[in-house]
Amino acid sequence: MTLLPKEGTPWPELKAQLQEAGQRDVDWRGGRVPMFIHYAGEDVLEVAKQAYLMYFSENGLGLRAFGSLARFESEVVAMALGLLHGSPSARGAMTTGGTESIFLAVKAARDQARQRNPAMGTAQIVMAASAHPAFDKAAHFMGLTPIRTPLRADFTADPQAIAAAITPDTVMVVGSVPAFPHGVVDPIGEIAAVASAQGVWMHVDACVGGYFAPFAQQLGVQLPDWDFAVPGVVSISADLHKYGYTAKGASTLFFRDAESFAGMGWYFDGWPRGQYFTNTLVGTRAGGAIAAAWAVMNYLGEAGYRRIAERVLATRRALQDGAAELGLSTFGTPQLSILAYGSPAHDIAAIGAGLTKRGWVAGYVTEPSGLHHMLNLTHEPVVGRYLDDLAAAIREAPAPQGQAVGPLAQY
Ligand SMILES: Cc1ncc(COP(=O)(O)O)c(C=O)c1O
Repeated sequence: MTLLPKEGTPWPELKAQLQEAGQRDVDWRGGRVPMFIHYAGEDVLEVAKQAYLMYFSENGLGLRAFGSLARFESEVVAMALGLLHGSPSARGAMTTGGTESIFLAVKAARDQARQRNPAMGTAQIVMAASAHPAFDKAAHFMGLTPIRTPLRADFTADPQAIAAAITPDTVMVVGSVPAFPHGVVDPIGEIAAVASAQGVWMHVDACVGGYFAPFAQQLGVQLPDWDFAVPGVVSISADLHKYGYTAKGASTLFFRDAESFAGMGWYFDGWPRGQYFTNTLVGTRAGGAIAAAWAVMNYLGEAGYRRIAERVLATRRALQDGAAELGLSTFGTPQLSILAYGSPAHDIAAIGAGLTKRGWVAGYVTEPSGLHHMLNLTHEPVVGRYLDDLAAAIREAPAPQGQAVGPLAQY
């Protein structure tokens, strides 16, 4: 059992221990991890680290004391709203991650629905089978019922199925840009039309695509409108700590107008310390995460984000083509930074085991069985090596026996 040491240990010794412990982790810099990391080069990492350290001790809870953080946050929000076609009445705030952004969007939608109809039953969220578990987590924590609808043949959300699932207790309908499992972009315009027709709040989960899709579009990737340009989209989540390439602990949540934004916040003054207000689920917020987001966005600018997106898109296409040559076809038509591929003619679990043996952390999708990647620049130089190992793993794998990848498909 580990006990707090009676006496302290000098930093050089601890530093050595920290370094040693990390050596047993998977080599993410070598592109061996299929997700979790969003690397955009040493220079970007350095900017994020330096900015984070400069505001390491400051607290985003105390914006009255730290006007610097208040300014950085409002500029981050403004820069992002500029990308997402927010009108001057659009609002937003930084949170600590995609899950928190989704929680707060669900809370705001639920509160607005209850305000409008105090007699309503248990609130429901309607979303496609591919939506992120953060919605179920939020529903579980806040007492809503999640309802998932089947996907279309191309793995996108089915607006008709969503329309059919909406009831008078539905407080939110979700579309993803892109959905995590297959990396495909849901038909946001059609889902929003269905939601608007029934007076339901539409949330776009752009946790993955919020800071990637705008630049992919600038590079020629054709996507139908998916942000505040679509009437009926009320809120959008977009993670800075994914394709914003900043320090972990940073996401953004945006609202079409001040009225919907008001539901994000929470106010209390029934205790002896006076008024307590936060826009976030958490109280204390790392000042470093706010400063690093501001610094990285300004360091990269649109041109920097576009340059990185171009390389990530090329990496996705190379993986897609290479896997196809090996008989594994891509599921649906992913247009951004995530892809999944497989084939019923192959034992995906055995192929994954072959990749694991060769030092790759395999990512999986379960429906249908396939391999999954959320890409960044660490993957760019190792596509060839990965495909060689994939070919070797395919050669070794037995004929498929219907073995499900479910038990392997862990985080
Ligand atoms: C589409 C989508 N939404 C939400 C999340 C949750 O983000 P976080 O892990 O930052 O809470 C993720 C994470 O991968 C995601 O892919």
